[in-house]
Amino acid sequence: MADKNINITLKIWRQKSAKSKGKIETYKLNNVSQASSFLEMLDQLNEELINGGKEPVAFDHDCREGICGMCSLYINGQPHGPDRAVTTCQLHMRSFNDGDTIYIEPWRSAAFPVIKDLVVDRSAFDRIQQAGGYVSVDTSGNTVDANATPVPKFDADRAFDAAACIGCGACVAACKNGSAMLFVGAKVSQFALLPQGKVEATKRVQKMVEQMDEEGFGNCTNTRACEVECPKEISLENIARMNREYLSAKIGSEQ
Ligand code: SF4
Ligand code: FES
Repeated sequence: MADKNINITLKIWRQKSAKSKGKIETYKLNNVSQASSFLEMLDQLNEELINGGKEPVAFDHDCREGICGMCSLYINGQPHGPDRAVTTCQLHMRSFNDGDTIYIEPWRSAAFPVIKDLVVDRSAFDRIQQAGGYVSVDTSGNTVDANATPVPKFDADRAFDAAACIGCGACVAACKNGSAMLFVGAKVSQFALLPQGKVEATKRVQKMVEQMDEEGFGNCTNTRACEVECPKEISLENIARMNREYLSAKIGSEQ
């Protein structure tokens, strides 16, 4: 079916600053091409607001290609909107109809406080990564060629799937407990499965889990909402792997 232009009503969370009280405001937006992306639709709204002398809506975005994880929005009550395995920036207006009302809100989680309008502070994820989400590399000139260490295909595929996590935070936003275990599970798994990552595995999982707890994320109660809403289809098996890694690291460190 050919794309057409539609008229929509937007109900958007507006909040001046982290400290001020926010509220939903209503905007009518006409002539939105269904071929445009969701963020292009927001650009169109902002152009109208600026031309009318009003404050544009603040929202996060960067790559607009589904790889950076910045475009984190609740759309009609769903993280990243109605389509499966799609980030907000890759969502198109053809997923909506003429006359639709669309609710747009920031991530709702205590660990991701609102900075302004639809922008939240996700630096808690950065701190978890900094706690151990890396491999220390010898850059002295004696580094071994990566291909010199064979990796079984099964493990390489699982590690690659885990590495697809873009750190968007939809898993946290979707979880009634505000748990970050899918994100941390993916980050732990991508290294735990590879020989290069095994060297620091024991320290890594303990430090990342400790940081996750310190940031105030909730625990996992297996509702699977994170897996359903994740735009990169990160599997729950990564949480199970993280739990196994954590348990064996703890037992090992107590001996
Ligand atoms: S696990 Fe999925 S939802 Fe969570 S941060 Fe990674 S990509 Fe986003
Ligand atoms: S803007 Fe980078 S993933 Fe959407």
